[in-house]
Order: sequence, then structure tokens, then C-alpha cells
Amino acid sequence: MKKVIAINGSPRKKGNTVTLLQRAMEGAESAGAETEMIHLYDLNYKGCTSCFSCKRKDSKYWCKCAMKDDLSPILERVMECDAILLGSPIYLYNITGEMQSFIERLIFMNLSYDKSNRSNLEKSINVGCVFAAGMPAERFPRFQPMFEWQKDWTMVMNGKWEYIISLDSYQFKDYSKYAAGLMSEPHKRKVREEQFPIDCQNAYELGRRMTE
Ligand SMILES: Cc1cc2nc3c(=O)[nH]c(=O)nc-3n(C[C@H](O)[C@H](O)[C@H](O)COP(=O)(O)O)c2cc1C
Repeated sequence: MKKVIAINGSPRKKGNTVTLLQRAMEGAESAGAETEMIHLYDLNYKGCTSCFSCKRKDSKYWCKCAMKDDLSPILERVMECDAILLGSPIYLYNITGEMQSFIERLIFMNLSYDKSNRSNLEKSINVGCVFAAGMPAERFPRFQPMFEWQKDWTMVMNGKWEYIISLDSYQFKDYSKYAAGLMSEPHKRKVREEQFPIDCQNAYELGRRMTE
């Protein structure tokens, strides 16, 4: 049976990112995968510390990360899967720091400084990304290149790469309790009711495609 791991890079376990990731997992399951979700904010770990153990000739850490922390067993499990589903909210026009640290560790240990295809990985792992952002859809084109270049590092995993982004997200349970005058709650509610279900369906199909 195919294995798919969803990595949640949001601190909110009931937020937009997790909702989208759950739908992506359902899509993966519909294509016959066994799935699980890892919450990065539950783990204590750091990004790559540039020890280069994974690049040393004859190293016992070849294609492995020598750092020992809560991410170590997760990286081992990720290396056994067929696809990963990465979910992150957009913070300051980027993925969260926790997701960035996870990606540094995963990609750098598989990155080749020798081969032109840049990969030491001897299998392929598909990477499907789901992002949730508060910005309205009309602002997105300005930041789209940031999402497109994520593709460059995923080639190290030798598989398919795709992303979906859910924009104009509903952020608070009760908008009246927050100083957020620049946001129109009726507009946010409309997006939530009309666009978010479409985003969830897109996440489902992404999860299915990454598994097939
Ligand atoms: C620290 C922080 C920074 C944020 N920066 C951005 C941003 O730069 N652009 C944007 O569109 N949304 C930004 N947001 C909004 C989140 O991306 C949005 O609320 C998202 O839906 C959160 O996902 P979650 O529900 O999974 O936590 C930010 C939110 C926080 C808490």
C-alpha cells in the first residue's frame, strides 16, 4: 500500500491549513494510500546546521541527517513514503519558519553536490503543497513567484510537484472581538462559504494526483 505523510506547518490544529491538508489526505486515501499527519509545532527541532555529514564521502549519514532531535524519526518515515503533503499558512509572504526548517533538513540531506540532477535520492517522492493565506486574490500575482520557485528544491525528491493556495482566509471565529477594521467580515464569510469549499476540493484532487 502507498504511504502518504501530511506535514502540518501551522500552529493551529483546527485552522485553514489543517482543513486543507485533511482534504488532501482524503484524496490520497481515495487513491489507495495509507495516510498520517505530523504537526511540526508539536516537535522540538532546528533547521539544518550545515554540519555536512550527509555529504561526507563514505559517511554513515549519506542521504540521512546527522542531527538528533524530534525531527529525526519523522525524516526516516518521510523517506519511506511515496508522497508528502506539505501544508503551511503564509506568514510574512512566506512559509512558516517551522516548515522552512523542516524543508532545509529534508532537502539538504538528499541534495547532491555531484550530480547534475542535484539528487542523491534513489527513489521518487511526490510533493504536494497546500498553502493558506489571508491576502485577497487580487494581491496574489505579486507574490506568486515565491510559490513557483519552491519547485526548484522539490526536484531533489525526483517526483511530481504541485501546489494549491487558498486565499482571503477566514482568520477569526468572531471578527467582532478583534481590531481588524481593514477586513470586511461579510466579504470573508462569502469567500469562506463560496471559495473555500472549492479550495478544499482542489486540495482533495491534489492529494489524489500526488498518490496516483
Ligand atoms: C504571523 C502571521 C503572519 C501572517 N502574514 C501573512 C502574509 O504575509 N500574507 C498573507 O496573505 N497572510 C498572512 N497571515 C495570515 C495567515 O496566512 C492566514 O490567517 C492563514 O489562513 C492562517 O492559516 P491557519 O488557519 O492554518 O493558521 C499571517 C498570519 C500570521 C499569524
